[in-house]
Amino acid sequence: MQNDIQEILISEEEIQQRIKELGAVLSAEYVGRTPLVICVLKGAFIFMADLVKVITVPVEMDFMAVSSYGASTKSSGVVKIIKDLDVPVEGRDVLIVEDIIDSGLTLSYLIELLRNRNAASISVVTLFDKPAGRTVDLEADYTGFVLPDEFVVGYGLDYAELYRNLPYIGVLKPEIYSK
Ligand code: XMP
Ligand code: MG
Repeated sequence: MQNDIQEILISEEEIQQRIKELGAVLSAEYVGRTPLVICVLKGAFIFMADLVKVITVPVEMDFMAVSSYGASTKSSGVVKIIKDLDVPVEGRDVLIVEDIIDSGLTLSYLIELLRNRNAASISVVTLFDKPAGRTVDLEADYTGFVLPDEFVVGYGLDYAELYRNLPYIGVLKPEIYSK
């Protein structure tokens, strides 16, 4: 698996350090409240797990699975709900945990959905951002790292469902895509 990686963009240590910083900021932001933290599956599951461990206020967690990519590396623009939330968001302070924002289509769809369900507040924390890919006007409230416009894998992010378990973020060798 490591042999398929051309370059490591962000190391495991850098990721863990940045998550601690994000946790401290979010803990201060939500002090006195109990946010509903929503993990956007599958990509964000590792980030979610590491992030909630460094948040010091009580949180509730829920999981939502959406799909916009299929097996391709470019957004189709179509967002499909594969698994909806289990709990109502009405009146809740919602924190959406995303792995990566590219076009912004997935997130703008989710925000609109939660707004329509009358969340009290909606904030977004994303570990990675690729601003060059944006097709809709959207910014996360909290961002871990800004990445170049390259397809990345690792730390929850996949190519054809593989590489999610790499502890760092990297770029695949070109020959992997032509397989
Ligand atoms: P959009 O374009 O809707 O994309 O902002 C968000 C979702 O697309 C996936 N995505 C990636 N997945 N490597 C991946 O493994 C990437 O470089 C990448 N860029 C976008 C991801 O699932 C994200 O939630
Ligand atoms: Mg994916």
